[in-house]
Amino acid sequence: MTTLGTPLSPNATKVMLLGSGELGKEVLIALQRLGVETIAVDRYENAPGHQVAHHARTITMSDPAQLKALIEAEKPDLVVPEIEAIATPMLEQLEAAGVVTVVPTARATRLTMDREGIRRLAAETLGLPTSPYRFCDALDELQAAIDGSDGQPAIGYPCVVKPVMSSSGKGQSKIDGPADVAKAWDYAMAGGRVSHGRIIVEGFIDFDYEITQLTVRAKGADGQVQTHFCDPIGHIQQAGDYVESWQPQPMQAAALEKSRQIAQAVTDDLGGLGLFGVELFVKGDQVWFSEVSPRPHDTGLVTLATQWQSEFELHACAILGLPVDTSLRNPGASAVIYGGQDAEGLVFDGVDRALAVPGTDLRLFGKPESFTRRRMGVAVARAADVDTARANAKLAAGRVVPRRP
Ligand SMILES: Nc1ncnc2c1ncn2[C@@H]1O[C@H](COP(=O)(O)OP(=O)(O)OP(=O)(O)O)[C@@H](O)[C@H]1O
Ligand SMILES: [Mg+2]
Repeated sequence: MTTLGTPLSPNATKVMLLGSGELGKEVLIALQRLGVETIAVDRYENAPGHQVAHHARTITMSDPAQLKALIEAEKPDLVVPEIEAIATPMLEQLEAAGVVTVVPTARATRLTMDREGIRRLAAETLGLPTSPYRFCDALDELQAAIDGSDGQPAIGYPCVVKPVMSSSGKGQSKIDGPADVAKAWDYAMAGGRVSHGRIIVEGFIDFDYEITQLTVRAKGADGQVQTHFCDPIGHIQQAGDYVESWQPQPMQAAALEKSRQIAQAVTDDLGGLGLFGVELFVKGDQVWFSEVSPRPHDTGLVTLATQWQSEFELHACAILGLPVDTSLRNPGASAVIYGGQDAEGLVFDGVDRALAVPGTDLRLFGKPESFTRRRMGVAVARAADVDTARANAKLAAGRVVPRRP
């Protein structure tokens, strides 16, 4: 049985979000609706989630001492990582000591925080199909991995280089031939999140389309953990960052079944309670595992318009031990709104025109500072079919015009 308390009282159920961007903000809102006391943590002040939580805290989450001090001071029932750059060994220590429960587990948070942990788990431990890959610490190792002169099968051309610690396509580039290798190495070194220069090189998969399989581990009526699948989400990435998503992505039965088998295998191993975004590449009935987020996924913003429970509500319910409903309500789509400039305190023109597009809704995240390629908002659309929804989401997003005040 799950019992929830009253926020700001001695019996409050307290949840701490580590990372309070646009995805964390929606999780916080879902938790607020259930009367959960929320603590939003981020590295800068007035982050999106800070603006909707009971408590806003600003710390360096990659610093183990700061993280430990905050968790011990706030004593949350649950800690919910929303980003990857966190001192995960400290979370493992605190979880092992019984100080706190980490969502979905501290181990899952550590394994998915860099590309090496999750890729080795998926490919080498679980035997799931992935692109061929190698980890390299120097330019000559990268060249040798591509050529196969390191004694292992050649990765070959084309291939993709990514810093092991990075997200949203930062430091990631495609190599089409020998002339691109050094450039890709330098770009990865400049774009990685931490200073150590390790990269993954992956063989390029010429997929027909890619999906996010949202997968929820939640308690059923009997108290046992059950796995639930949302309808597949299709998406388009530009420069490694998502620009458009839709649901449902039409799929052959065999490809859908394989996708769910892969998602089940990975999430069974990672364990705990909560929602996962399993990223998969599909060609015909072939499916490759790419990566997994142990938390809501950016492409899943579309579920704000498509499901009875959005991915954020699903995550909130699952982590509290509540039942979930992953069913689709109607087809829909999302389209990203970028800042388009480096500036503080943007204003957004055309919101009225955007919302005049049938079946649309908007989220403006409230980020205090904009960069040219920073995601500042999203338009979502519901429609009778995915094509209409995609056209309307893009139309609405394009009508929102961010500018300097
Ligand atoms: N081996 C590959 N073959 C073909 N395309 C790839 C490959 N790896 C990555 N991509 C493309 O680049 C996109 C981003 O890659 P990936 O998800 O690994 O990076 P990321 O930085 O973690 O992105 P995000 O944080 O937005 O999920 C993928 O969604 C896919 O479109
Ligand atoms: Mg990805």
